[in-house]
Amino acid sequence: KLLSLCYYVILSLFFPVLHGQKVVTNLKVTGYQGYDVTLLCQYIHGNTEDKIQQMQWTWQNESSKCEIMVFSMDHGLSLHDTFLKDRVSFSKSSPPIYEASIIIKDVKMSDQGVYSCAYTTFPSGSHTGQTTLTVLEGT
Ligand SMILES: *[C@@H]1O[C@H](CO)[C@@H](O)[C@H](O)[C@H]1NC(C)=O
Repeated sequence: KLLSLCYYVILSLFFPVLHGQKVVTNLKVTGYQGYDVTLLCQYIHGNTEDKIQQMQWTWQNESSKCEIMVFSMDHGLSLHDTFLKDRVSFSKSSPPIYEASIIIKDVKMSDQGVYSCAYTTFPSGSHTGQTTLTVLEGT
């Protein structure tokens, strides 16, 4: 009896996750000036028929915002001309669809901010995860 109750509780806890798609990121990441840092982003499909159309990474702080890169199923990768252009890459081989984590090389203080990993899917729309990157002076 107890065991079956347990099973039921666990099932109902996970029920919404199994049926929905979501984007997994770390809420907060700390980088060290001059070193590399990885920002996680994974798309969990769930039990849906959703098709991913594109994913994009954006960066913002209190005063500015920019689109770092876009990966579109139709048009491939577009790496925008930002302060990160020469220092950012996907951590896994392409196409960076379900696993779209990025590595930022030689992290700078000015890289600090909120990074958003946003998926555009059909038909359910957009799903976004955010990571706040804090940069500390290296030792
Ligand atoms: C936000 O980023 C811009 C461009 O990198 C920089 O000039 C500005 O100082 C940053 N603002 C804050 C509050 O960090």
